[in-house]
Amino acid sequence: MTDDTTAPYVAVLGGGVMGETLLSALLGGGWTPERVEVTESAAVRANELASRYGVRTGASNAEAAARADVVLIAVKPNVVGSVLADVRDRLRTGALVVSVAAGLPLSFYESRLAAGTPVVRVMPNTPAVIGKGASAIARGTATEPGHLVLVERILDSTGLVVRVDEKDLDAVTAISGSGPAYAFYLIDAMAEAGVLLGLSRDLATRLAVATVEGSAALAAESGDHPVVLRERVSSPGGTTVAAVRELDAHGVRAGVVAAAQAARDRSRELGAAYSS
Ligand SMILES: NC(=O)c1ccc[n+]([C@@H]2O[C@H](COP(=O)([O-])OP(=O)(O)OC[C@H]3O[C@@H](n4cnc5c(N)ncnc54)[C@H](OP(=O)(O)O)[C@@H]3O)[C@@H](O)[C@H]2O)c1
Repeated sequence: MTDDTTAPYVAVLGGGVMGETLLSALLGGGWTPERVEVTESAAVRANELASRYGVRTGASNAEAAARADVVLIAVKPNVVGSVLADVRDRLRTGALVVSVAAGLPLSFYESRLAAGTPVVRVMPNTPAVIGKGASAIARGTATEPGHLVLVERILDSTGLVVRVDEKDLDAVTAISGSGPAYAFYLIDAMAEAGVLLGLSRDLATRLAVATVEGSAALAAESGDHPVVLRERVSSPGGTTVAAVRELDAHGVRAGVVAAAQAARDRSRELGAAYSS
């Protein structure tokens, strides 16, 4: 937590969903609005962020990067190449480049920036918006341990942050990056089942959301293995064991594994396509 006027100056390039999440994380983590700015191609959106957070907007990527100790890239992967071209010659010596763009390898950045530029890749997920995210960070070839500590500080209020080797980021994308969609899918399926069994949709959805939320919190707080937690609610000859048998019979576990493998493979494909 910081709360001074000497915090590293951060330029967030791209003020969309993830850019706003990072901006909010910085301010929630103690950065003052004077130490953060956002660039955004849509003027209406830039004005919205300026009035909501009191940060500077409206500069070009190059102007913002020239002032920054940390440049946070939060544009879509297909735009990252042109953003790097904007900032390449304007980055301050020693400035840290951090990117949340999915798929693009660290070598993509390092080959387009001056030799020795420290780069960190982040794979966040959407629950970061409410401080319940899970992010993995991977270091580039010129990154020092202090850079990772700084990125952890920036992401501190977004939720869990773990360090991984870059080779594991496609798998991380498949589990925590795409994972919120799996959880929403399960919630929707449970709610649908509730409707089929005669509950109102509103009631079934509220029950499903609270159940998934509470189960995740219990798993996190107890630290017990999910199998142990599942066995604890499965009394002999009872309702839960009958339900879990149907989940197995319908291949739900195998479906989750196949889904994650497909996401991992797609992440690799997209990374290769964006890099070429
Ligand atoms: N959202 C997620 O859950 C999530 C999770 C993991 C990683 N990510 C990564 O986060 C990055 C951003 O995703 P997002 O969902 O936040 O996308 P987004 O909402 O589309 O945000 C990107 C923003 O950047 C703006 N922009 C486009 N070109 C620009 C430029 N040259 N300079 C400055 N700003 C520019 C866009 O404006 P216009 O709309 O006018 O083009 C848009 O507001 C992506 O690379 C994605 O892979 C996102």
